[in-house]
Amino acid sequence: MAKEIYHDVVILGAGLAGLRAAVEIARRLGGKADIGIVSKVQLMRAHSVCAEGGTAAVLRPEEGDSLELHAWDTNKGADFLADQDVVDRFVRAMPGEIYQLDHWGIPWTRDEAGRIAQRPFGGHSFPRATLAADKTGFFEMQTLYDTLLRYRCFARYDEFFATDILVEDGRFAGLVGVFAPTGETIVFRGKALLIASGGGGTLYGFTTYSQTVTGDGMAMAWRAGLPLEDMEFLQFHPTGLVPSGILMTEACRGEGGYLRNNRGERFMERYAPSKMELAPRDMVSRAEQEEILAGRGFEGSDGKPYIQLDLTHLGADRINKRLPLIREVCMKFLGLDPITTPIPIRPVAHYSMGGIETDINGKTRIEGIWVAGEAACVSLHGANRLGSNSTGECLVWGAITGAEIVAALTKLGAPPAVPAAQLAASEDHRRELLARKGTENLYGLRRELRTMMDDYVGVFRKGEELAKALVIVRELRQRSHQAPVPDQGTIYNSNLFHALELENLLDLAEVTIVGAIARQESRGAHARRDYPNRDDEKWHKHSLAWRQPDGSPRLDYKPVTITTWKPVERKY
Ligand code: FUM
Repeated sequence: MAKEIYHDVVILGAGLAGLRAAVEIARRLGGKADIGIVSKVQLMRAHSVCAEGGTAAVLRPEEGDSLELHAWDTNKGADFLADQDVVDRFVRAMPGEIYQLDHWGIPWTRDEAGRIAQRPFGGHSFPRATLAADKTGFFEMQTLYDTLLRYRCFARYDEFFATDILVEDGRFAGLVGVFAPTGETIVFRGKALLIASGGGGTLYGFTTYSQTVTGDGMAMAWRAGLPLEDMEFLQFHPTGLVPSGILMTEACRGEGGYLRNNRGERFMERYAPSKMELAPRDMVSRAEQEEILAGRGFEGSDGKPYIQLDLTHLGADRINKRLPLIREVCMKFLGLDPITTPIPIRPVAHYSMGGIETDINGKTRIEGIWVAGEAACVSLHGANRLGSNSTGECLVWGAITGAEIVAALTKLGAPPAVPAAQLAASEDHRRELLARKGTENLYGLRRELRTMMDDYVGVFRKGEELAKALVIVRELRQRSHQAPVPDQGTIYNSNLFHALELENLLDLAEVTIVGAIARQESRGAHARRDYPNRDDEKWHKHSLAWRQPDGSPRLDYKPVTITTWKPVERKY
């Protein structure tokens, strides 16, 4: 018999969105709140702590910034695939979130006048990235957790590997998984589930994501019958450290850093002359890739060419004060001091614009399930997210979903009983994984998947390569049935968790590729060599991938909400 644990609200994921939601629920319900925070890792190890450069908000209207300008930048950056009502709600809520964190004690970096400092970021027409040095996510997380600790209304379940969402009659009925320290099966029951489990960027080999971010929440939601939206749009950040992929924050360029090719040219002049290095990420990543393909890269230690991120003209003082983490990482990982030496970088998988479809309130089509943060596709970022808008999204939709859940709790009533057949299927599946025999290697397959995604589903895409990618993913899935799980034990069976993660990654890869094959245009981060133009007539629409009984995706589409701006050509 699986153990059952009940909380009114179950939050899956303890990053920025999950914590912000928990705080919102706690402050609205006080001691009456009953929250279970379930996380695959220990709480302060959620990937949100890796967010570096800043959080966008309009704080200086008197100097020329405005909500309308932030909304315009976001919609244009999104290549007009964002829902404009969602963008509007976001920009309006952001200043309040920044001041709220200030009141909760975050050490925002200050300018000479003592005001909260802001710096330029790509695609924004005003310096509005609010920063805590280059460790913004870490300080945001710590501030939220400190705030949450004041309320004695939550329990933490760290190191719980969730495997399935149970649904009965269209209603949330439980979250099943394994408690890693004991191997015990637990079902979390509750009136409401908030999925805040992050993106799926470790689909790629060269990635800024922590290795723990494997899209589990997205894949579980998909298997539970929810559609995934706009999954073909995967963001490549222009500056991943070579060879590790560690994020070299866009703030390096916000502080004045240059990108150079092997001729010493600031090549962005050819691609985005007005914004240069601070063009949106999709454009800068493509420009770097074009330079590399034209033979103007440097030879990399991993055998692949790279571009230089040059901070040497910024001076030690600026780098030490505004980019201390960048300097520390370069010195520790490469023995390179960016004060004197340019940094080797290239485009790196960084962010899923797509995710679990939600409405503007973060609500899904299953009663009792909400989603916030990168796991969600509330349609804020469209085809390309602007840097510093994602931590903001976590804060805003953490707060919105927290408030929505509180409002819904009384109406939701007692949750359904655990559906026995679904629970049994979930446990049987784990037993089946453990019983697998054969000569395939779990880790080899994961590596093959990620290399294939790097090679065929990258910054530039082509129909024939995407078709190959689909064949490979389906073969990998077949081969995974012959990949034994080496550890047969119950305590911290990380081999079993990696087998489950591989399944999640394969599901997400297939959805991503199928969406990318179908979308015969180039828009934002989805750049097709064989369809180089944006095609608003046919493709100004969101894609929705539904799971079919055989496990493959079926695509469907829905309109983009346009309230203010018709799509125009994107020039920078
Ligand atoms: O470059 C960065 O600091 C990343 C920020 C973001 O993805 O929003």
